[in-house]
Amino acid sequence: ARKIIIDTDPGQDDAVAILLALASPELEVLGLSIVAGNVPLHHTVRNALTLCELAGRPDLPVYAGCDAPISRKLVTAEHVHGKTGLDGITLPDPAIQATPGHAVDFLIETLRREAPGTVTLVPIGPLTNIATAFQRAPDIIERVQEIVLMGGAYFEVGNITPAAEFNIYVDPEAAKLVFASGVPLVVMPLDVTHKALTSRAWVDGMAAMGRIGQAVASWTDFFERYDREKYGSNGAPLHDPCTIAWLLKPELFSGRHINVEIETEGKLTLGMTVADWWRVTGREANATFIRDVDATGFFDLLTQRIGDL
Ligand code: BDR
Ligand code: CA
Repeated sequence: ARKIIIDTDPGQDDAVAILLALASPELEVLGLSIVAGNVPLHHTVRNALTLCELAGRPDLPVYAGCDAPISRKLVTAEHVHGKTGLDGITLPDPAIQATPGHAVDFLIETLRREAPGTVTLVPIGPLTNIATAFQRAPDIIERVQEIVLMGGAYFEVGNITPAAEFNIYVDPEAAKLVFASGVPLVVMPLDVTHKALTSRAWVDGMAAMGRIGQAVASWTDFFERYDREKYGSNGAPLHDPCTIAWLLKPELFSGRHINVEIETEGKLTLGMTVADWWRVTGREANATFIRDVDATGFFDLLTQRIGDL
């Protein structure tokens, strides 16, 4: 199985991504490294623990990580995810606790311990933990197999400012470091995740699938409200699960290997992922920037895997 670490700020869509990974025998989840993002760190850690219990995986290591971006104040998204970050269904307080130690140390130690080129990082929140690990231990950078992340937007523009997507906007300095690291990157921007929209039929199908399916249905219903009111869209965009779905079935997606740079200075464009789609700059390609998904195939995969949990 392919070894992955999910770096996350759960988040309803993060939750679905984690469940999809745990349900998939092709992947070995070495642990969850938790970051502040959608909500402050104490909530994201708690949500991760709740999820592990829900998934029947209380053994999975969960490490608390950075509670604020590298050099900025934390921006959160309670307006999308609710006060806890995982609003929609009330789950019991987790009985398990976070694994002692810092998520950044977990990332460094795991990458040094495992054979080079065998661990894939899957960041689905702000990139603070990953960038901090790279800064502190540059030797681990070349040991990473690949980074498959959710973040950015180009044609679809922003969701937290007109120009920027939330994960990149929260910690643009961290994103800049990761995009310049030389590690092969696969990027799931809003351009593709806004095409991974839940349908009523899919949510109803989930709700009929037992405890875990019911949780997924309640989360997506909560999450959908924001997009419906804001964009008039029908359905909730399942941003973060796109990363895991790509690891399982890359043939569902298409994009281009291009240069993507992060804006860290722009007054109006802070956190923008400037994607050289037409290769007009001559700058070296550093990322596979995904733009399309076979949504039917994506939701079938989710149903099948989460149904098995
Ligand atoms: C991203 O930001 C968060 O709100 C979601 O969990 C996702 O990772 C979408 O912009
Ligand atoms: Ca997220």
